Amino acid sequence: MSKKSKSFFSHFTIAHKITMMYGGIFSLSLLIISFFVLVNVTVIEQNNIKAEMKKTVENIDDYIKNGGELSQETLEALLENKYIEVNVVDVKNHKVYKNSVGKLPSFVRQIQSQPPHGFLDEERNNRSEELEKKGFKVDIAKEFNMDDKAYFISSRDGKEFVLLEKEINFEESCYLVQAFKMLQKNDYYFRSFGLRLFLIDILGIFLSFLIGRYISRKMLKPVEEIQQTAERISIEDLSQRIDTSGPDDEMKELAETFNSMISRLENSFQKQNQFISDASHELRTPISVIQGYANLINRWGKSDPTVLEESIQSILAETEHMSQLIKKLLFLAKSDQNRIPVQKEQFCLNELVKEVVKEMEITTETKRNIIIKEQKTVEIYADSSMIKQLLWIHCENALKYTKQNDSITFHIYEQCEYGCVDVQDNGAGMNEEDVTRIFDRFYRADKSRNKEIPGTGLGLSIAKWIAESNDGKISVESELEKGTIFHNAFPLKKKKNQKYS
Ligand SMILES: Nc1ncnc2c1ncn2[C@@H]1O[C@H](COP(=O)(O)OP(=O)(O)OP(=O)(O)O)[C@@H](O)[C@H]1O
Ligand SMILES: [Mg+2]
Repeated sequence: MSKKSKSFFSHFTIAHKITMMYGGIFSLSLLIISFFVLVNVTVIEQNNIKAEMKKTVENIDDYIKNGGELSQETLEALLENKYIEVNVVDVKNHKVYKNSVGKLPSFVRQIQSQPPHGFLDEERNNRSEELEKKGFKVDIAKEFNMDDKAYFISSRDGKEFVLLEKEINFEESCYLVQAFKMLQKNDYYFRSFGLRLFLIDILGIFLSFLIGRYISRKMLKPVEEIQQTAERISIEDLSQRIDTSGPDDEMKELAETFNSMISRLENSFQKQNQFISDASHELRTPISVIQGYANLINRWGKSDPTVLEESIQSILAETEHMSQLIKKLLFLAKSDQNRIPVQKEQFCLNELVKEVVKEMEITTETKRNIIIKEQKTVEIYADSSMIKQLLWIHCENALKYTKQNDSITFHIYEQCEYGCVDVQDNGAGMNEEDVTRIFDRFYRADKSRNKEIPGTGLGLSIAKWIAESNDGKISVESELEKGTIFHNAFPLKKKKNQKYS
């Protein structure tokens, strides 16, 4: 398509394009068919006439040869079409039977008196000469495939006829059958037929564009609805959906895809809103605590060293809490936007667990009984620094929710295609409801217990994200006052179809 036509068509709407295409194709087909009909209708008409004439002559031939007595009535009964002009000359009995619709043209043989002997024989071979002498233009019509003669005859005044002549000799009788008909070529009939066809074409073209317009509008109605719904959708109102009650077609599929996209957007928007409101709520508490202690210092702390010391310690603790919170919030915000790169590699899980345990032993003051149970050396394919972060989340929790001399066990093993590490403690444990919610952001089990234990409630949400983005799994088993086990599983090897980490 040239640039010019491209810009021309680009101004049309899809509905207009469909209408034009539908109407155009239909109109073109209609015109081609009409032209074909117009060209062929005369040919078909003439062929019909020829067939009827041939049949009429054969009927008369059969009738006579079967011993039939010819009369005016019987002749009419033998006609295939009463508009065929027939002249039957009974040579012996000097009789002529005819079915003439119009004036007989001069090529029709009439019997005037006693015909000379050999009337027919003499002229049989020079009939065309005889007709030409009378001023007709004669063509032998071969397509009749008859024993006797068939001619196309045109008179001086431009009229065209088809003439069939057959000599019937039966017993003693001799008949000459002449059937002829005028061919109505290029005349009024042809023109009026053409005019009617033209009017029908105009009507057809008009209707095709009208139907095309109706169809295209009906077809594109769902698209219009999608557009209107999309216009109504805004951040303030993501509840709008497209009606999908129509037939099961591509448009319904499109509408459903659009609806599911809006649902996903609404869902993630709600999550984000929830996250922001939870985050601001969590940040408000330490800020008001810091504010409170700052006021305390302002009023009494300058003169009272105990108040000053207590306030400074609390402010330090709260700022530490805030910094932890902000760090975790930032991590989760980034993870939501897929902005944290996951750099997977093959590494030994046993070594990583031992490294974390060592660091844990160095940094913690209160004594725990730490056990590492290794079934075998397990190599996994994951981001090692992230897995270390996950292990630390479990270690911190295990430390927070156990008492001195409780035990923390790391169990390393392989299961199916996964390298696993279970972190088990015999600490506080959780009830069933808490177990189902601890991976939710900001969720902290047992509010009264948690007042003394610092935390943001984000650790396990981060652990879950880490496990999943490393194609791993995380789950928990816990019983109140008995202890908790966190199961963590990571792929042993790189997936076959995984090209990039
Ligand atoms: N080993 C455990 N024993 C008992 N309860 C646990 C254990 N681990 C987690 N929990 C419960 O799950 C909750 C969520 O844990 P999560 O690590 O997400 O947050 P947190 O430890 O409270 O805060 P932080 O974000 O600082 O880690 C905790 O508040 C705690 O009630
Ligand atoms: Mg924690």
